[in-house]
Amino acid sequence: MNEGVVVIGAGGGIGQALVAHWLATGGGPVIAVSRQPAPFGCDDPRLHWLRCDYSDQQMADVVARIATLAPRPHRLVICNGVLHQGGIKPEKRLEALDVEAMTSLYQTNALLPLRWINQLLPLLGASPCTLAVLSARVGSIGDNRAGGWYGYRASKAALNMLLKCAAIELARRAPGVKLLAFHPGTVDTQLSRPFHANVPDGSLQTPEQVARHLVSLMAGLIPDGELSYLDWQGKTIEW
Ligand SMILES: NC(=O)c1ccc[n+]([C@@H]2O[C@H](COP(=O)([O-])OP(=O)(O)OC[C@H]3O[C@@H](n4cnc5c(N)ncnc54)[C@H](OP(=O)(O)O)[C@@H]3O)[C@@H](O)[C@H]2O)c1
Repeated sequence: MNEGVVVIGAGGGIGQALVAHWLATGGGPVIAVSRQPAPFGCDDPRLHWLRCDYSDQQMADVVARIATLAPRPHRLVICNGVLHQGGIKPEKRLEALDVEAMTSLYQTNALLPLRWINQLLPLLGASPCTLAVLSARVGSIGDNRAGGWYGYRASKAALNMLLKCAAIELARRAPGVKLLAFHPGTVDTQLSRPFHANVPDGSLQTPEQVARHLVSLMAGLIPDGELSYLDWQGKTIEW
């Protein structure tokens, strides 16, 4: 039985591609959560587009709606993440550090996914569910050879640690859940667009390609009480 899928941060490049993929491949309800209005004129009755400003109250209201539409979702993906926005830019050197910008990155990239997991807890029971959070390879401490991007790297490393703690707790409280910290590769979205000059030829992926990789990766994972940190090829990334 297909119990439905939930995409949080569905207005971004990867989020939109996931929603489109799941609508195109059939199955149960597709629930999209975003600050933004639905970006395409889609009249598929399986799509439920829920607006949310990511305040505690609106997140709780969204989860209550999800509970009526898909009380036992079997796939959840949290896409929220910021690299640059307004005055926030990836730092190249220590002099560029800005506490306000770093705090904002930490809130969106690390705390918001954990706040979602907290809110979604009542939907996460014993039935199998894979919950993927968009992390990034640059959150790996062991893999950090280039430095820079202090705020983004640190917020994704913090995300990975928070997800590890959640995996340990969920193993006890919701043993059907498999947690995945996912690196999508470099994907052609507005997040990566200013940095495409540094991407080797042929390694930029479309959001549609990444959506396919993630969906097939999630299908192969089984709940084991662990957090997996995998790239789009299914390869483990060092912490
Ligand atoms: N593109 C890449 O090359 C790449 C590489 C590694 C990791 N990632 C990760 O993949 C995820 C999706 O990124 P994308 O490439 O699809 O980028 P995108 O098109 O810029 O999407 C941004 C995402 O972040 C959310 N968001 C943006 N500003 C926010 C804010 N102030 N507060 C809360 N949520 C906010 C958006 O949610 P709404 O729907 O609410 O707007 C959307 O889900 C991110 O976590 C990113 O770090 C991307």
